[in-house]
Amino acid sequence: MGKKIFSGVQPTGNLHLGNYLGAIKNFVDLNNEDENDCIFCVVDLHAITVNQDPKELSNNIRGTVATFLASGIDPKKSIIFNQSKVSAHSEAAWILSCVARMGWLNRMTQFKEKAGKDKEKASVGLYSYPVLMAADILLYDATHVPVGEDQKQHLELCRDIAQKFNNDFKTNDFFKIPEPLIQKEFSRIMSLKDGLKKMSKSEISDLSRINLTDTKDEIINKIKKAKTDPLPMPSTIDDLNKRPEAKNLIGIYSSLADLKLEETINKFSGKNFSEFKENLTQVLIDKIIPISVEIKKLLDDKNYLDEILLDGSKKAGDIASKKIKKIHEILGF
Ligand code: AMP
Ligand code: TRP
Repeated sequence: MGKKIFSGVQPTGNLHLGNYLGAIKNFVDLNNEDENDCIFCVVDLHAITVNQDPKELSNNIRGTVATFLASGIDPKKSIIFNQSKVSAHSEAAWILSCVARMGWLNRMTQFKEKAGKDKEKASVGLYSYPVLMAADILLYDATHVPVGEDQKQHLELCRDIAQKFNNDFKTNDFFKIPEPLIQKEFSRIMSLKDGLKKMSKSEISDLSRINLTDTKDEIINKIKKAKTDPLPMPSTIDDLNKRPEAKNLIGIYSSLADLKLEETINKFSGKNFSEFKENLTQVLIDKIIPISVEIKKLLDDKNYLDEILLDGSKKAGDIASKKIKKIHEILGF
């Protein structure tokens, strides 16, 4: 039987190689399996949990759609829409926030990281962010949710919320319990400047990440400057575990070249980093430049991107409003 897929990406800036290898590449594979029903959501309501400039946000929403399309998601096959246009998401998030427990949310590590030292100043939305994420998933009866490793805890919370709702209201399997789909290897792509930090849109230095809109020269320069260590290329996986930067670059290469980690290690064992970096640059150029060119082309046709979102919002809205109607009946509204 086919899977019901739901996933979301925040429109908070240029998408990067971590988003691509951790999530979007998987979206494309799932979209290409005929039997699946896929929904990919630009989660603009999640984006406003931290300050956003309205003009930039609106560009970033289109940029995220362009990235989906340029990476190979087919809008005729999958639903692509932005969260704010389907009001059921906000409504379900409120209802589920009355099911979720404070103790559960207090354990969320992403909130702790994002709120930083001054928790009192974080928005309430940043705190209840995972409840909105649960609403996204449960409204569509998603069976599988492709995400990067960093979202695993939020998915476990979603499962807990679904289970508690089903138990509290004795509705058996009204909410489907979704399975996370997380890449087994390379599920966490690290910064090019620090192998212990996640590659992220919010990192100040652009040299820390490969953006999906980078040019050939930018990719060449970033890989040249990527941090390594003075030793030659490792010859065993054990060697790698003590060398986070080398591990990350070898992981990126393996993922892009569709090789196992061991195969890449054998290929470059004992060689100089400079030789490996030339090969890495080449696979990055082969993979990223066609996406980058296509994103820029698509961004010139805003009407086309807006039509895709409008069409997707209608389709998603139809599904979500039916689920909300049933939720009202269950609650006694
Ligand atoms: P976000 O941009 O935070 O909305 O993330 C979109 C998707 O990309 C989520 O599934 C994340 O788990 C994934 N992702 C973000 N950063 C990374 C990274 N450095 N490595 C792997 N996956 C990532
Ligand atoms: N929280 C996810 C992230 O930052 C984005 C997201 C929102 C999401 N809603 C979702 C992912 C539903 C999967 C399913 O990456």
